[in-house]
Amino acid sequence: MENKIILTGDRPTGRLHIGHFFGSLANRVKLQDEYETYIEIADVQALTDNFNNPDKVRKNVREIVLDYLSVGIDPNKATIFIQSMIPEIAELTVFYSNLVTIARLERNPTVKTEIAQKKELFGESVTYGFLGYPVSQAADITAFHASIIPVGEDQLPLIEQCREIVRKFNSIYGEVLVEPEAVLSKSKRIKGLDGNEKMGKSLGNAIYLSDSEEEITKKVMSAVTDPNRIKKTDLGNPDICMVAYYHNLFTGKEEYEKVCEECRKGERGCVACKKELANNIIEFLRPMREKRAYYEARPEEVDKIIIQGTEKARSKAKQTMEDVKKAMKLDYFN
Ligand code: TRP
Repeated sequence: MENKIILTGDRPTGRLHIGHFFGSLANRVKLQDEYETYIEIADVQALTDNFNNPDKVRKNVREIVLDYLSVGIDPNKATIFIQSMIPEIAELTVFYSNLVTIARLERNPTVKTEIAQKKELFGESVTYGFLGYPVSQAADITAFHASIIPVGEDQLPLIEQCREIVRKFNSIYGEVLVEPEAVLSKSKRIKGLDGNEKMGKSLGNAIYLSDSEEEITKKVMSAVTDPNRIKKTDLGNPDICMVAYYHNLFTGKEEYEKVCEECRKGERGCVACKKELANNIIEFLRPMREKRAYYEARPEEVDKIIIQGTEKARSKAKQTMEDVKKAMKLDYFN
């Protein structure tokens, strides 16, 4: 059987939160034991909608690597690399640009939604770079012959676009590229502290993996609860309470059922309930905070992980580039 290669990535635009943990990181930690895994810090992609904020992207590259290491991504198993340090990805992007129409990019549902959200940045006309980021993402994936892309639902149109590019490339130049498959992570999307369907940095409703104990407690105390419940003795409805929702994630199943029952009977005060939850989240994240502290105290070790990962990724991308150039008859003077 062919050795399967996995590629995933994140835009370095902010630290990772518990939504990322349940949504993708936990899965990656598992997959790194089973597959050849590449994890890209997509700084070039981050710049497509943060071109005016290079400091933000720069700073978050490191934050994200620390987040990866803290949750147990093992650099001996998974290859962590920085996108901009692999010029082959940019080169492939140029070649693939010929294989995609502007109309097709404009129809891409993910791109469409994002453009609508970014009116303030782009005004009336979106940049060439942003419109084309699916092409660059296709280069990310194919540079490593990745065949499995574990992603969330929002990324499916990007993987579909990649598959089209691969088919077109292979039909014109010969079978060089591997057509990837998206694998939807079974894990659930985590709601925000405010009850919003999505936990997100821009929404200000997230608990970050790197939050301190004080920050976690403060955030949990502000979580949205049943608005009809004023006094402890009021009968509560845990179904509309974010504290109960998080108890379900961080407190054992039996404990969670007890929480709900006591809430419904008016036997559990919200403040005590929140304190208990905050403590459970603090304990859950403790090993991650400790691991993060270990690496924060050893910046050279982190440098080494990124440099070695990027070197390994680059040598793989170079090999792909050679095959691509040969297929495209660009292998002059070899
Ligand atoms: N677009 C992805 C995101 O916003 C990040 C990403 C970049 C990615 N390159 C990728 C994901 C390649 C999977 C495969 O989260």
